[in-house]
Amino acid sequence: MSNTLLIAQSTMEQEIDALLAKMTLEEKIGQMNLYSGFYDATGPAPEGGSAATKYEHLRKGWVGAMLNVRGAEETRKLQEIVVNESRLGIPLIFGLDVIHGQKTLAPVPLAEAASWDMELIKKSAAIAANEAAAEGVHWTFAPMVDISYDPRWGRVMEGGGEDPYLGAKIATARVKGFQGDDLSSTTTIAACAKHFAGYGFAEAGRDYNTVDVGTYTLYNRVFPPFKAAVDAGVKTFMNGFHLLNGEPVTGSARLQREILKGKWGFDGFVVSDWGSVAEMIAHGHAKDSTHASQIGVKAGSDMDMASGSYLKNLVGLVKDGKIDEANIDEAVRRILKVKMELGLFDDPYKYSDLEREKERIYHPDHQAGVLEMAKKSIVLLKNEGNLLPLSKNQKGIVVIGDLADDKNSPLGSWRLASENNTAVSVLEGIDAITKEYQFVQGPKVFLEASFLQHVKINETDNNGMKEAVEAAKNAEVVVMVLGEHGFMSGESRSRTNIDLPGLQLKLLKEVYKVNQNVVLVLMNGRPLALPWEAENIPSILETWQLGSQSGNAIAQVLFGDENPSGKLPMTFPRSVGQVPIYYNAYSTGRPVNKEGNVFWSHYADEENSPLYAFGHGLSYTTFNYSDLNINANDSKNIQVSVTITNSGSRAGEEVVQLYLHDPVSTLVRPVKELKGFQKIALEPGASLTVSFTLTDKELGLYNRDYEWVVEAGEFRVMVGGSSEKGLTGSFEIE
Ligand code: NOJ
Repeated sequence: MSNTLLIAQSTMEQEIDALLAKMTLEEKIGQMNLYSGFYDATGPAPEGGSAATKYEHLRKGWVGAMLNVRGAEETRKLQEIVVNESRLGIPLIFGLDVIHGQKTLAPVPLAEAASWDMELIKKSAAIAANEAAAEGVHWTFAPMVDISYDPRWGRVMEGGGEDPYLGAKIATARVKGFQGDDLSSTTTIAACAKHFAGYGFAEAGRDYNTVDVGTYTLYNRVFPPFKAAVDAGVKTFMNGFHLLNGEPVTGSARLQREILKGKWGFDGFVVSDWGSVAEMIAHGHAKDSTHASQIGVKAGSDMDMASGSYLKNLVGLVKDGKIDEANIDEAVRRILKVKMELGLFDDPYKYSDLEREKERIYHPDHQAGVLEMAKKSIVLLKNEGNLLPLSKNQKGIVVIGDLADDKNSPLGSWRLASENNTAVSVLEGIDAITKEYQFVQGPKVFLEASFLQHVKINETDNNGMKEAVEAAKNAEVVVMVLGEHGFMSGESRSRTNIDLPGLQLKLLKEVYKVNQNVVLVLMNGRPLALPWEAENIPSILETWQLGSQSGNAIAQVLFGDENPSGKLPMTFPRSVGQVPIYYNAYSTGRPVNKEGNVFWSHYADEENSPLYAFGHGLSYTTFNYSDLNINANDSKNIQVSVTITNSGSRAGEEVVQLYLHDPVSTLVRPVKELKGFQKIALEPGASLTVSFTLTDKELGLYNRDYEWVVEAGEFRVMVGGSSEKGLTGSFEIE
């Protein structure tokens, strides 16, 4: 650390100590209290907590932070109350779920993960931070870095997919994007790595459900993105609603004190999830709200989101000697430190500026940034007979599907500050490129849905089916835009059925009967099970939910202005019965079918393999891999190189992926694990040699005692364009 930085830090610590010395116990506890604002609730309303009470508590200095408050005017108004009317005038932090943008929306995080482009992901987070900061927001509850292989879980849209290595890179990029180099700048906001830890393993994909994971999974799959977030300097962590291996994570001293703050040296603060302190009662871990508060503080949950338990109980707990005031001081120190780093003590209103708000929201640079991100997030799943790209002179294009003119669904879930119907629809995007098409809506599949309502799907309204089939009959090419409504994924949007909802598959089959030249454009917030579609439809484009510029990005890919380069960050199953399914699974003791023997690890009614594997994604050009070279002379610095040639006729980008396998290990290793990737661009006919360096970091694993070990013996390498196949080789470690 440089001398100037050391001096700045010690000055900050002195200032915090001086402030702490002036604070009453009630005021300290107030800093640990996070209230929700007056609208846009993102959870069940807590008991009590009327607006009048909240204002009174603000004046008393009993509120440290607020969420679900935004806008330069609104944030300034609340900040003024605290700064001018509370005894010590300690500024509030305003937090919001800025998950993939404020008003200008980027693709949902799972879509961004499909780009495998860390610079773009970082830039996208920086755009989100820039707009959020202009609306007075200081703190986002992102990135969600929960690894998950369960597409039934609606929150997979909010994460980076199933792989810890890719997930760790994305965590780093997003934290750096949100926080920038200077947290006190009015273009950056504090990030929050969540939900520590294991939330992506909620049993059966049901939100808020129990998590039970073993040592290998916890240390080697769940932790890496969180650890990466700490190393990237993330300012805050959020725990979660769930029980992990028998203990609510909100009450876990092992996770929060021992591992996060202890082993990893995290020096920011930990916020609970919405009401999760009080939910320890329902879990069967705390007998009442006092007990829950005691457990929470002891475990290192520094700030209580929305439950009001700390405010109600901590004074009594300290006075009764059940909590040491030093525990309170430690939490408050952490919170004040982040406030100082945000620059709020220098100017509490610096983020609340009406002029800046006007200038930055929907800034053309932001629109350009999210368009670029959207284009790179699209994955070409299948392209038989090169039906795509369509020619701009192509006649007889018919576009079918409810989602084609939907300006809301492409915005996706988790968009608290955005405006409805602000996405460029697919039709508008196509319109900008060619006017030569006809649109038929088909059956109206979706009914209106808002963030707080459950999405209803109209299962019976066949209106439009006949018209769609008629139009398809005479079409040269049919573009079908099908998938999920924007609010079918996200928090509390778990599904047991991950097929195309409603009448869409029926519509697709009817259309296919009369015209096989079908391009299927998918919009969804999670992997879907699409066996019939994959078997029959020649071209399938996965577009997820791409945000504000969705239609432009999709149209540019459809008509070849952009060559798709995305790769799946999550496995697509053949059916929901295969879930959880993931590429980095274990071999099992019975991995292969020995001539008709039934006793091997398989299903009687389905293949083991996925529909589309992790890392899969096609291009309008082709890439040839050759010359795999491995130099393992220095076991601490192994060099792997491979040559990639663009063997097609278009310029394109490829994600070169390196997978490792350790075939003999004390804690058994998965059959393959991603340990390196590079996204490269190649002109037609051009070649590039790509090199990877493997060190202890790539070769090792965490053992049962959370020690990093590299075990001697053979390691196998595969390098290719997906997790499915590639060039293979091996080396030995002594
Ligand atoms: C509950 C969610 O689990 C969490 O991720 C989110 O940040 C909070 N609600 C606040 O909205």
